[in-house]
Amino acid sequence: MTGVAGTALSGTAVTPVVAERQAAMKAMADAAKTISGIFDGKLAYDAATFKAAAETIRHRSGKAMVESFPGGSFGASSAAKVEIEQSREEFTALARHLQDLAAELSLAADNAPDGITESMRMAPGMAMGSSLLGKRAGVAAEADPSKMPAEHLFHLILQECTNCHAKFREKRQ
Ligand code: HEC
Repeated sequence: MTGVAGTALSGTAVTPVVAERQAAMKAMADAAKTISGIFDGKLAYDAATFKAAAETIRHRSGKAMVESFPGGSFGASSAAKVEIEQSREEFTALARHLQDLAAELSLAADNAPDGITESMRMAPGMAMGSSLLGKRAGVAAEADPSKMPAEHLFHLILQECTNCHAKFREKRQ
């Protein structure tokens, strides 16, 4: 399987579909950095900036993300594992869940035009709770994102990135 995909792409430079999804991933990483900076107080809060960052993640996850990994686009210049092909359902679920969380995060900005509100903050102990959720797969997916503080949503978003990378991305050199 790996051999077949490798042969199909070998000798070619980075294909457009790979370059595009890598650029989309980088845009999400920049957006996550912005949101993280805002929560940490390193960047001034601005509702429009916060919302734009959340929207970047929302637009590049879900269906758009799944469609950027067509069959045969693995190996060679890509860090995407060929396992994506064998685990389409799981891959799609991760991309969809990320989109649901990003959509909720984006809504939070509408309710906070002037600054981060108390209700957007994670209560003490919640961070620990979220890492427990991360360990027990499935629980996070069952919890209702619309009832979560924005900061908690953001932690779950980062977990979603990590979960997918751990399973479906391999380090190149
Ligand atoms: C459903 C799976 C999945 C999710 C969710 C996901 N990624 Fe990725 N990501 C990948 C795969 C697979 C690659 C390797 C793509 C390639 O090289 O073809 C990748 C690559 C990347 C890269 C490297 C891009 C490059 O220049 O080569 C960055 C940065 C990245 N992801 C950030 C993120 C961030 C930030 C999030 C969450 C907001 C996220 N990803 C969510 C699967 C995912």
